[in-house]
Amino acid sequence: MMMNKPFNILAIETSCDDTSVAIINSDYKVLANINDAQLIHNLYGGVVPEIASRIHMKHIMKLTKSSLNKALINLTNIDAIAVSVNPGLIGSLLVGVSYAKALSYSLNIPLIAVNHLMGHIYANKITSPDLSAPFLALVVSGGHTELIHFKDEQTFTLIGNTCDDAAGEAFDKIAKILRLEYPGGPIIDKLSKKGDLSFHYFPRAFNQQNNYNFSYSGLKTAFSSYIHSQSPEFIKKNIHHLAASAQVAIIEPLVKKTVNYAKSKNIKKIVLAGGVSANSLLRKQIFQKAEKLDIKVFAPPIEYCMDNASMIGAAAIVKYKNNNFSSLDLNPFSTKGTREV
Ligand code: KG4
Ligand code: ZN
Repeated sequence: MMMNKPFNILAIETSCDDTSVAIINSDYKVLANINDAQLIHNLYGGVVPEIASRIHMKHIMKLTKSSLNKALINLTNIDAIAVSVNPGLIGSLLVGVSYAKALSYSLNIPLIAVNHLMGHIYANKITSPDLSAPFLALVVSGGHTELIHFKDEQTFTLIGNTCDDAAGEAFDKIAKILRLEYPGGPIIDKLSKKGDLSFHYFPRAFNQQNNYNFSYSGLKTAFSSYIHSQSPEFIKKNIHHLAASAQVAIIEPLVKKTVNYAKSKNIKKIVLAGGVSANSLLRKQIFQKAEKLDIKVFAPPIEYCMDNASMIGAAAIVKYKNNNFSSLDLNPFSTKGTREV
């Protein structure tokens, strides 16, 4: 049965190192989206799971209050609680899921479990509420690189996946080799703007037609060997060119495979999702190529590319309308991929 009455969803995202609470209404309007990015992980060059869970615990209640204040509503105006349930760090997910269950139970309102990657895809609905399947989604985040063909909103097929590192992970590792901060993606993106992407050719894996899988470990090794064979002066002088040459080696296969698959199956919509969808070269190249083939590309606004709770709320809207609720014995799980529960 479809529900048509307007409603508000309070959404929680704690799958990795961002604590986020948002309130979104049934028209995909974000009433509040409060994020707390855990900068402490910069000190370690990557996310430390135990620290992440503890910070989520410390901040989640405060962020919920701030979100309600920002939206100018209180808990009695909330009709359902949505939460990221997988994939992610199990301890981090557990904080969000336990908190969501407690809210759902005490307020006696439905609990909605959301796959984090579905959240990234549905972030596009915040600016394009009418976006509908069929479409081809390219999910590129710190942990995933997936090409997914959505035949309708519930039926989807995994077309391609990474065999090793994810695209975001490749950005982070390239940045680490260059002794830049974590997360490396935005820094490499920024440096590349002043660099020559043909400065040095780094390998692109699985270049054959009809191969829709990805691999970035070869690029990482090639980049590392190249950098270690150069002097610190050379690296410093050419940092923009090195960033640009590595960036294009990560981005080019994403663009080529996505557009080729869409073309081969006559899919007219491409949906970008995940942290790497903020990348300026990815956006530029895919928009240019798709336009020539009359394919429309959707990308979330930059603020909704990275982990945030609004996208979890956006993915929960259709579940709410379909009465697709979870019971209080819901448990998070860390299994990778766009698997629904
Ligand atoms: O989706 P996300 O926020 O978290 C996960 O679910 O993993 O993605 C984080 C990833 C990081 O690896 C980060 O370096 C990358 O997204 N990223 C970017 C850019 N902004 C964030 N990569 C390339 N270019 C960017 N502008
Ligand atoms: Zn994410």
